[in-house]
Amino acid sequence: MICIKLLQILISIFVANALERIPITMVTTHPFQAESRNPSPQYYCYLSSLDRDAVVSSRRVLETRTNRNGVNNNPAPPMPVTQQGAMYPPGSAVYKVTLNFGGSTTDALAYGTFSCDATRSGRADSTVSNILMNSDSYTYPEDGLVTQTVNMDDRGVQIRMAGMQDVDRWQRNNLINILANPNYDFTGMNLILNFKLNISKSKDEGLYQTLSGGLQRRDSRHGLKRLIVRSCPSNHWAPPTCYGVCDNCYNGGVCDDETGRCICPPGFMGANCLTACSDHQFGLSCEFRCTSEDCEGLQFCLLDPYGCSCGAGWKGLDCLTACDPSKFGASCLQECNCDGACDRFTGSCSGSCESGWGGFNCQIPDVCPVGYYGPNCTSICNCRNGVQCDHLTGECPNQHCGPGYIVLPASVTCQECQGDYFGQLCQEECHCAEEACNKLNGQCCGQCKPQWVDASQCLVGFEEATSSKINPGASTDVSCVLRGSGRLRAGLSLHLSREEAHLVSNGIQELTVFSVGDVYTGQFRTDNVTDRDKVFCLIVDHEDEIVAVLGTTVNEYVLPVLTSPPSLLHANVSLIAIQWSAWDAVKDMGEPPIVA
Ligand SMILES: *[C@@H]1O[C@H](CO)[C@@H](O)[C@H](O)[C@H]1NC(C)=O
Ligand SMILES: *[C@@H]1O[C@H](CO)[C@@H](O)[C@H](O)[C@H]1NC(C)=O
Ligand SMILES: *[C@@H]1O[C@H](CO)[C@@H](O)[C@H](O)[C@H]1NC(C)=O
Ligand SMILES: *[C@@H]1O[C@H](CO)[C@@H](O)[C@H](O)[C@H]1NC(C)=O
Repeated sequence: MICIKLLQILISIFVANALERIPITMVTTHPFQAESRNPSPQYYCYLSSLDRDAVVSSRRVLETRTNRNGVNNNPAPPMPVTQQGAMYPPGSAVYKVTLNFGGSTTDALAYGTFSCDATRSGRADSTVSNILMNSDSYTYPEDGLVTQTVNMDDRGVQIRMAGMQDVDRWQRNNLINILANPNYDFTGMNLILNFKLNISKSKDEGLYQTLSGGLQRRDSRHGLKRLIVRSCPSNHWAPPTCYGVCDNCYNGGVCDDETGRCICPPGFMGANCLTACSDHQFGLSCEFRCTSEDCEGLQFCLLDPYGCSCGAGWKGLDCLTACDPSKFGASCLQECNCDGACDRFTGSCSGSCESGWGGFNCQIPDVCPVGYYGPNCTSICNCRNGVQCDHLTGECPNQHCGPGYIVLPASVTCQECQGDYFGQLCQEECHCAEEACNKLNGQCCGQCKPQWVDASQCLVGFEEATSSKINPGASTDVSCVLRGSGRLRAGLSLHLSREEAHLVSNGIQELTVFSVGDVYTGQFRTDNVTDRDKVFCLIVDHEDEIVAVLGTTVNEYVLPVLTSPPSLLHANVSLIAIQWSAWDAVKDMGEPPIVA
């Protein structure tokens, strides 16, 4: 989740759009030589100029080996050191971490997983992590990639390791051996893990370690691979509904499940990763240049769900193997569509494209994949049930749109819901602060309208708070009216308080609470109040934190005063009758009526 729960809703209404993560590129040298001492493994944290003020740190993400006594006490990485000079464009921020830990080939202290972390106000915190392994590892990822990205509900997923030794133990996040767990199958000397069930983020995401050679976690030659699970099915985003269709990511870009946008591989940029960087550069706008010739031997790690790969043109755990002739791009994962020779860095062809393909590197198909249209197939149809739209105009069959989209007047394409609405036919109401509503799932990232609460969707809100007008010295009756109570989470409660920021309830008595439909009313009686006093309806969560406040001001009548006094009409032993003139709005003072 990129949502950050803001406790102070009053502050949150001033925060602009949902917080985005800081894009970090982590570049690691000698990724498959954790044992290397001269030079030592190093990694760099690259931040573009937009985020140059971020505070950058680094840590060991997970303990992957123990010392001789079976204890996790591996050295932490040193503080990142700012890099300056011609290599680094002015305005950007580049930090370097050197792991000169020493150790031996069986006991390399730089083995494992390390991070670049960045925080900055106005952005969600970011973390990117790498993986370092020994060059004489017993086992290692068969495809040469230290991360693998899968989607929620994917089936038949495998983690394939290779090596000379069979695996005695599979661990996920240092947890107990999962070799005997019935949810997995292990084949090929236990080098291949087969997931028997649909992939789930909470159960399956994590760092997998294959222990061989007598299980000793003191040894640093065990294979590592991190499984990243997107929170939505393939090509979709916006959990939990996952109604969103991802941008069409080219050249190995991966769709961010929280934003729907492409995270481009090193060597490519742009909204759809259609633009190749020149001169072996990388970064969000290709602003950085590799520290090695042609980016050889460098492992690049980006924000999840991208994970790690080599730079364009290289593959293997050490990123030292050039692509085969028909492949190109990051870790050589892209297929060339050339009639002649193909540039292994960019995929561009020396001759023409194979038939059926176009674009500068022959990656754009003549017929767009279902769900996309336009010249580069980068426009999204957003039709109901994901069907194809007109390849030129983008019009959906019968103009039926998917959830979160609607055909607006003077248009034929499906456009995002307008105003405070989201979901199917744009009929559900958002209670988010302006601009904060995600039209696909109604999530507000804690940025609710004033008086609306609930961490994600602002489902509970105050409709009104009223107090009865009183004579001086009398008690006032206050009602607090909430909407959305049908979805009121357990743990939220309604109170009346004399103070806005603390629950102070002396002299306050709860009379009744009742709900009708999704409207929930609490009525309270308050003693000892005087004119202009304020009392506050509060929603308090299970940690006694006040999550929403709505105040009401007590009003007293100004007692009426007659200009001419009442006169005695009649008196005997059992009855006295008095009379007074009718209220005269000009001459009399105070607030009528006088009733007795
Ligand atoms: C597994 O995923 C498929 C879609 O890939 C879905 O139709 C099915 O309901 C899922 N099964 C379970 C048990 O979640
Ligand atoms: C298509 O992509 C190319 C880059 O490959 C870009 O130069 C061009 O502007 C794009 N065309 C459209 C219509 O988006
Ligand atoms: C009434 O309110 C005043 C001021 O808020 C306070 O000092 C006093 O103790 C209260 N009296 C009673 C009986 O609650
Ligand atoms: C008092 O006056 C009322 C109204 O005129 C009358 O009905 C009643 O009988 C009187 N009572 C006595 C005790 O005179």
